[in-house]
Amino acid sequence: MELYDFDRHVQREGTSSVKYGLRQMFFGSDEVQPLWVADMDFETPDFVRDAVLQRAMHPVYGYTFRNEAYYNSIIQWFARRHQYDIRRDWLLFSPGVVPALNVAVLALTEPGDRIIVQSPVYFPFFWAVTHHNRTLIHNLLTKSDQRYDIDFDQLRAQAKGAKMLIICNPHNPVGRAWTKKELETVAEICLENKIIVVSDEIHNDLVLPGFRHQVFAGLSKEVEDITITMHAASKTFNLAGLATSTLIISNEALRQMFKHSLDGLHIDMGNLFGAVATQAAFTHGDVWLDQLLAYLNNNLDYLDLFVKEHLPRVKLFRPEATYLAWLDFSAFGFSDDALKNKMIHEAGLGLSAGIEFGPGGSQCMRLNFACPLVQLKTALEKLKKVFGD
Ligand SMILES: Cc1ncc(COP(=O)(O)O)c(C=O)c1O
Repeated sequence: MELYDFDRHVQREGTSSVKYGLRQMFFGSDEVQPLWVADMDFETPDFVRDAVLQRAMHPVYGYTFRNEAYYNSIIQWFARRHQYDIRRDWLLFSPGVVPALNVAVLALTEPGDRIIVQSPVYFPFFWAVTHHNRTLIHNLLTKSDQRYDIDFDQLRAQAKGAKMLIICNPHNPVGRAWTKKELETVAEICLENKIIVVSDEIHNDLVLPGFRHQVFAGLSKEVEDITITMHAASKTFNLAGLATSTLIISNEALRQMFKHSLDGLHIDMGNLFGAVATQAAFTHGDVWLDQLLAYLNNNLDYLDLFVKEHLPRVKLFRPEATYLAWLDFSAFGFSDDALKNKMIHEAGLGLSAGIEFGPGGSQCMRLNFACPLVQLKTALEKLKKVFGD
């Protein structure tokens, strides 16, 4: 079996990478060590690069369609990795999950409709609602010493009269891999109140050892019928630059409405190389992914121990999924601006400010630990200098 080398340093400067190339714009400095945008400082796997290179060798890049092997790679991936059966005709495509979130809002709700999100959460969820003049409802996650949980009582109250719930499953940024039981309660509330559920499962392959992903639509036929699942190979295999994602919609009426909006925007053609890469990833990716997850878990163990030993006033909410660690700095009592400034100008680190993830994110920071361990170690030493005791 091939052993992949996740320790290898990859030079990303000069590649128009958002994470590296836009540091000046986002942090006011080109010098910060970037641990923000959710892509990885690992090589996209060789079997994906080979497939793209091979296709790139053909001298014509004209219009293309998605072939049977492409559909099968996705269907079989979900069956194999998530025990979820998809029918070919349930699949639609979009250049990304964020565009698809916007299409879902436009296609399935009306201006003024109430749409619930579970904050703190990936901020494009907010924009997908407010940009289209729908009403944003925050079902704030509750925070205990160990982890974040869903406030079901509040959700039950907010669900009355709401049209849609957008869940992040698993959750970015707090790292929960929601359990079957938790999702069943969410589903029961949504079924009772006739709410459409958008389940953003872009991180669903990145569930760390000891935890399990539950495809929301996989709970039951009834639940499947009210759900739009969004997925991509982009996070898992580090190919976000190829802008390709998948929608899974079993309900014929919802799918037709969604498709009508997609067609209206003419955005489902997709990118030739995105399709080639996605197919290669889902066809050949199991071994690579298992090794990636082991490497990420090792990074996380290191991070966890380091925080306990050297950063006693920082609290890590150890993620169950994703490569994003949610760190709470509230014990210092800094304002969000002061915390951000310290992080940039004193620690020399570019993390995502928690406040960007909406209510509940204040005084927290999100750290992307998908990088070679030496890079993570360097970053942690920088954190220790400013936030250590
Ligand atoms: C929860 C979640 N959804 C969607 C995206 C981005 O999706 P896309 O690049 O396909 O638009 C991200 C990227 O960080 C994410 O964390």
